[in-house]
Amino acid sequence: MIQIKFNYEKALKFVSESEIHAFQNAVDQQFNTVKKGNGKGNDFLGWTNLPSSFKEGLINKIEKAAARFREKSEVSVVIGIGGSYLGARAVIEALSPHFNLLKKKLGNPVMLYAGNNISEDYLAELVQVLDEKDYTLTVISKSGTTTEPALAFRILREHMEAKYGKEESRNRIIAITDKEKGALKQLADEENYETFVVPDNVGGRYSVLTPVGLLPIAIAGFDIRKLLAGAAEMEKFAASSTKIDKNPIAAYAAVRNALYQKGKSTEIMVNYEPRLFYFTEWWKQLYGESEGKENKGIFPAGVSNTTDLHSMGQFIQEGSRIMFETVLSVENPAHILKVPTDKNNLDKLNYIAGKRIHEVNQMAELGTALAHVDGGVPNLKVSIPEINENTLGQLIYFYEMACAVSGYLLGINPFDQPGVEAYKRNMFALLGKPGFEEETASIRKKL
Ligand code: PA5
Repeated sequence: MIQIKFNYEKALKFVSESEIHAFQNAVDQQFNTVKKGNGKGNDFLGWTNLPSSFKEGLINKIEKAAARFREKSEVSVVIGIGGSYLGARAVIEALSPHFNLLKKKLGNPVMLYAGNNISEDYLAELVQVLDEKDYTLTVISKSGTTTEPALAFRILREHMEAKYGKEESRNRIIAITDKEKGALKQLADEENYETFVVPDNVGGRYSVLTPVGLLPIAIAGFDIRKLLAGAAEMEKFAASSTKIDKNPIAAYAAVRNALYQKGKSTEIMVNYEPRLFYFTEWWKQLYGESEGKENKGIFPAGVSNTTDLHSMGQFIQEGSRIMFETVLSVENPAHILKVPTDKNNLDKLNYIAGKRIHEVNQMAELGTALAHVDGGVPNLKVSIPEINENTLGQLIYFYEMACAVSGYLLGINPFDQPGVEAYKRNMFALLGKPGFEEETASIRKKL
């Protein structure tokens, strides 16, 4: 059953139903472009049927590897960046208790992440933690050549081999990479690490439902079958209609493009549950890398409320009117906690005594949406009944398909990322990488 609801009532002050429905033909066409695979970037459409076509043998292999790692790990480190990192972290953080002490009680390894920055302090402190803990490493890189994860893996592999010896390290490292090419594949073959493949036809930011996301999620103790089942439900549903009135994917793609045409060039994903912070990060990458090209695109931002109402709230209420919000709303939390009565009532909170904390949070959400609409910020709402593997699976597919359709509506290729190479060329030139001699000479002149 589809658990996601999409509501755009609070955008109708800014864009009319007829302006939204004017996108219907284009939406039909772009769903068809994805389905037929005849649009830009059509080499990278493997994600569209991943949930329904996932092989039992591969799920078993992932679950077995995860069980092996769970036995060996107080800590399990996931090395990767961008699409080779954010999907796993988004799901793991959304499903995990907030506090490490509770995570330990559940018997799950503590998941740590590396290779997503080049901070010397971060890596040095990680090594200090790993000195004292039994740990395993999952290194993920589709290309096998990305600097950040390669650097982290070099340091952690050396640490691991010094701690456990080469032989045992082979049992504690899994590599997820291309099926045949790249430095990581070569190293994994030479060292005989267990490996999983990143499919050729799935780009990094669409890879959470491949071993890239599923292995770390399973190591963290979560049910990847339920995640895939949720995504498969959404896959089936997405194929059933392209109508804006029936399919929330079609509606979301149409409304955000209609708002973009009205000059709303920033979309803020808003959550009221701190465990969705990394889901927002995953969404930011998916939409930012997919749409931001050819001098076009909606800039994806994120806030975590009510925390950010005390910082970014000012800007959203009264700053430049270039934005709209999409709230990812959770109807039911996992726990029940009520506001106690206090006989002295010095904090003046007795008027809400007996209410659930969640009700207070919901009123903050509604009050904020109304205030922001009054302040000129259209408000969209994506709701799920609760956070679990099934709803997260549905959300992942919902946002992936909406991103593809939306990107095609914008006229760009939602599956490439030519712009991410620019900083790499400069960094390699500045570091004097062999093969970059000309760039090194020219960049030094600029300094
Ligand atoms: O979405 C993408 O393609 C990127 O974010 C990549 O996933 C990221 O740059 C990491 O690349 P790789 O897996 O090749 O190390």
